[in-house]
Amino acid sequence: MRLLRYLRFLTCFSVLCALVCPGALAAESGNDWWRHAVIYEIYPRSFADSNGDGIGDLRGIAQHLDYLKELGIDAIWITPFYPSPQVDFGYDISDYRAIDPQFGTMSDFEYLVSEAQKRDIRVINDLVLNHTSDKHPWFIESESSRTNPKANWYIWADGKPGGGPPNNWQSIFGHSAWTYVASRQQYYYHAFYPQQPDLNWRNPEVRRAMYDVARFWMDKGVSGFRLDAITSLFEDPALRDEPYLKGRNAYGDRIISRIYTDNLPEVHEVLRELRKVTDEYPGRILIGETYLHNISELARMYGPDNNELQLPMDTQVGFINKLSIAEFRQKINDAETKLHPGNVPLFVFENHDNPRSLDRYAGGVRNIAIAKLLATLLLAPRDAALIYYGEEIGMMNYGPLRKEDVQDPIGKIGWPKEKGRDGERTPMQWDDGQDAGFSTAAKTWLPVNPDYKTVNVAAEERNPDSILNYYKALIRLRKENAQLRDGEFVLVDANNQNVLSFLRRTSDGKAAIVLLNFTDREQGVTHHAKTILASFQAPAEVTEIKLPPYGAYIGEVME
Ligand code: GLC
Repeated sequence: MRLLRYLRFLTCFSVLCALVCPGALAAESGNDWWRHAVIYEIYPRSFADSNGDGIGDLRGIAQHLDYLKELGIDAIWITPFYPSPQVDFGYDISDYRAIDPQFGTMSDFEYLVSEAQKRDIRVINDLVLNHTSDKHPWFIESESSRTNPKANWYIWADGKPGGGPPNNWQSIFGHSAWTYVASRQQYYYHAFYPQQPDLNWRNPEVRRAMYDVARFWMDKGVSGFRLDAITSLFEDPALRDEPYLKGRNAYGDRIISRIYTDNLPEVHEVLRELRKVTDEYPGRILIGETYLHNISELARMYGPDNNELQLPMDTQVGFINKLSIAEFRQKINDAETKLHPGNVPLFVFENHDNPRSLDRYAGGVRNIAIAKLLATLLLAPRDAALIYYGEEIGMMNYGPLRKEDVQDPIGKIGWPKEKGRDGERTPMQWDDGQDAGFSTAAKTWLPVNPDYKTVNVAAEERNPDSILNYYKALIRLRKENAQLRDGEFVLVDANNQNVLSFLRRTSDGKAAIVLLNFTDREQGVTHHAKTILASFQAPAEVTEIKLPPYGAYIGEVME
């Protein structure tokens, strides 16, 4: 097998490869492409609907690759499009090697990859390792008896002697994490919905099966994986009760500490194994969904010898959820200075699981200056960056307004405290026409945000001062300006309570200065610089610069 794989790799690198090897990357611009990458997250249900059924699909994505190219995107991460009962909208997978018909066919996927390659855009798949759907054949077999060949592929346990689930572990989506199955007279564990049984990662057969899934998609030309819920892979084998913390969550459950169910040390063992698998294919990367508590836990995700994830998500910066200059300064500086040398952080402000950033940072008001400030925080440091579709036009949350409209089950379980994640998953707003240009259906799977008449790609493309044009300019700068591309990150004026300032400085001594006004008042700072980009009308050269409320400024430092 190994030899075969090696031969395949050599073939991919031969001149013939573009003709005979669909897995080849058309335009490899170095295996380290991801260090500066801007990666764009696509929630396929909501991006573009090519067949008018109200649900986005793979052909729809392919139709918008030129838009992504112009935006400057290096890679797209597409959330799960595999066959699924869609209980968790694709995160409950019933077949890891196929396409759910509502998103298209395998040839649509191959077409998407090849069209993306033509534009130097890489495709990253979502890999859900922690759990499958309860309709996956593995689970159907596993639940059928205690003795079947897959009996040990999931986390099964007997109930408490007096009855009831084995312990107090809770699902992240509310209530007990255990569900009883009569055929085995046992409970299975699910970190998420009951329809998402957790795989048993202590079983080597499970590991092998999943590593082969990764190879299957890399053979199809994908450039890596975003590893879903990766810290949830292991649970305490002794099934000890989680200690309770103070209070109750939105589902009314007592809050548990999750010391026995989250981020157990064995996660790193799996990451190292999986990294070996992706390293069989040059230039492939692993991104992790890593909600962690502090920078040292995040640093560990890269591996002791940089042999685990290339890009674990830094969720500590983007999810501060208030414009606190002290926290941003400290957390960005941590990420820039406390990772093992050679690593870069992956900053992220938005995704399909959290309210849009303007809802969290601008009090639900479409404040364009704040949107540009956040864009600068995301794209001006030394980092790889994730953009969630629509973030670049300042899309905001919409709905759900009534419980009966809720699609995301956590919104049903937790209503009204937890309204679920529909609000940040509404259709992409392309223009001011029917369904915002997303679809031609009479009804789209989630309603389009009514602000689409003015908030849409077409309108923002026409407006030179739009959020979209600011993103484009910033992304271009990251590629073309040597300091913003390669410069080290250096905090300056670190006691300023109003303006966050940092340099990006290259070894030749040249530097770009980035100034960010965190307040709703004008702020003056002294810097001699030539303006490169600003979120407001700035003079070509400055010494005493006046930053308007939430103003963002980037300039070339002058002597
Ligand atoms: C991740 C996904 C989320 C999903 C969960 C369970 O957190 O981002 O959308 O519900 O995993 O798979």
